[in-house]
Amino acid sequence: MDSGNPQCAADIVDLRSDTVTSPTDTMFEAMRRAPLGDDSRDGDPTVRALEQRAADLTGKAAALFVPSGTMGNLLAMLAHGARGGEVFSDAGAHLFNSEIGSVVTIAGLVPRPVPSYRGAMQEDALGQAIHAASSAGRPRPALIWMETSHNGAGGTVPPLAHMARVHALGRDNRIAVHVDGARLFNAAVALGVSAQEIAAHADSLMFCVSKGLSAPVGSLLVGDAALIAQARAFRRFVGGNMRQAGVIAAASLVALDTMIARLRDDHESAGQLARGLAWLDPAIAEPGHVQTNILRIDVSGSTQSAADWASRLKTQGILVQASGASQLRLVTHRHIDRAAVERTLLAFSAVVPKA
Ligand SMILES: Cc1ncc(COP(=O)(O)O)c(C=O)c1O
Repeated sequence: MDSGNPQCAADIVDLRSDTVTSPTDTMFEAMRRAPLGDDSRDGDPTVRALEQRAADLTGKAAALFVPSGTMGNLLAMLAHGARGGEVFSDAGAHLFNSEIGSVVTIAGLVPRPVPSYRGAMQEDALGQAIHAASSAGRPRPALIWMETSHNGAGGTVPPLAHMARVHALGRDNRIAVHVDGARLFNAAVALGVSAQEIAAHADSLMFCVSKGLSAPVGSLLVGDAALIAQARAFRRFVGGNMRQAGVIAAASLVALDTMIARLRDDHESAGQLARGLAWLDPAIAEPGHVQTNILRIDVSGSTQSAADWASRLKTQGILVQASGASQLRLVTHRHIDRAAVERTLLAFSAVVPKA
């Protein structure tokens, strides 16, 4: 397995996202050898193998390969038949903030943000919101939405017990529960459980292979057979039909075989970064909050905006993402090694204002 990123100049440390990871040599080799077919006609054998693997890994009956996490989430909303109802999630959910409003404009759902703590909805508040939605004049409660790991909250991972209680709330109120598990395996590694144990608390779940797992393209939506059959039809509806998609499914299979266990290294790098940054300035980083590969750096105490910090770091070859006026997002991944962590800390030490 190679570890370099040919797209990235050797002197650049790219912490903007784990989506910048490039395929390994083993993935390219698998892509070249993959048995192929017309996925939307008779089925592509490599895509079928990937869908079966995804279903097995998550303990669900069926899976659907889709080009992106956003499409997987969208198909879940459509396939659950939730149109016209309310979807409950925390205000920082990727669904509400980074999917161009498809929740409203395509899925036809009414977003109902629920007060949350570090990305996990407060259970009492969720119960009250469901109860309120059941009253006259409000759309019907239609879907409960959790995210793990939680991107906007800084890669946080809701405890399994919380997910179980939210799922039970859904079951008691006959509301389906979807989990946006774009980084499902980061969450599983952080909790020390299998992906299946997390997916047990979801009626449908989407996970991405294109992020820290280093596959070039793709996400999977898993659920029961009827739901996935619906989602397959909706995939055609939104233009997501694929043909010899085994080329990318082959890389995804390698990702699932070889890339899950090493996510632990990315979490360790994120922890090292957080500890180093907190040492430079305790106000900007909270090492105790770092559970996976995402760090949110708070620069609100500085006179400079997050965009200023990002551009000053860039002059030193460190790429980070400014998020709003006062936050930076740093994401560790396969191309961030110990030397990259040290270079990043050195660059920050020149940028952090001296007390
Ligand atoms: C939590 C979460 N959900 C969904 C997505 C969407 O995935 P994609 O970029 O493949 O559409 C992302 C992407 O970063 C994400 O972080």
